[in-house]
Amino acid sequence: MTKTPTFIPLLNSVSRAETAAGEAFAEWARTTTDKRLAKTLRVVAMRETEHGIAFAKRMLEFDCELYDDGRDFTAELRKIVASKRSDVNKMKALGFNKSDSGPDIFDRFFRDKTIDPMTGALIGRYICEERDTGRLLKAQHDRLHTADKKRKERANR
Ligand SMILES: [Fe+2]
Repeated sequence: MTKTPTFIPLLNSVSRAETAAGEAFAEWARTTTDKRLAKTLRVVAMRETEHGIAFAKRMLEFDCELYDDGRDFTAELRKIVASKRSDVNKMKALGFNKSDSGPDIFDRFFRDKTIDPMTGALIGRYICEERDTGRLLKAQHDRLHTADKKRKERANR
């Protein structure tokens, strides 16, 4: 039997985090009253959920099952999404008000030089979708922030 790949823990933590994030974004999409934001959140939720499944599927192709690694990457996300903050304040709290061109957590994903082409393609697509999601959410933040500012200006007149 072939040895278990060294990148299985990476696939496992991505799968678990994405599945949990998918649920949180879907919940946010259901509860916001802003239709345009809801649409973006649904795209994000579908992406996250699909990443969760795709990474679990890849693990299974290596004969590995998902396992609890004791890590919770989405506790903060779930807490903020479930809070009573406005949409724009949720986005700020989650950092979607900043466009990030600097280093990010994904930069070290390919440090493992044993990653095979198929897994590499999956990880590459995942990273690019995550960064695109960041851009989509930043655009929604900016739209809501501008609308908020105009509303406040009108109220102060
Ligand atoms: Fe994600």
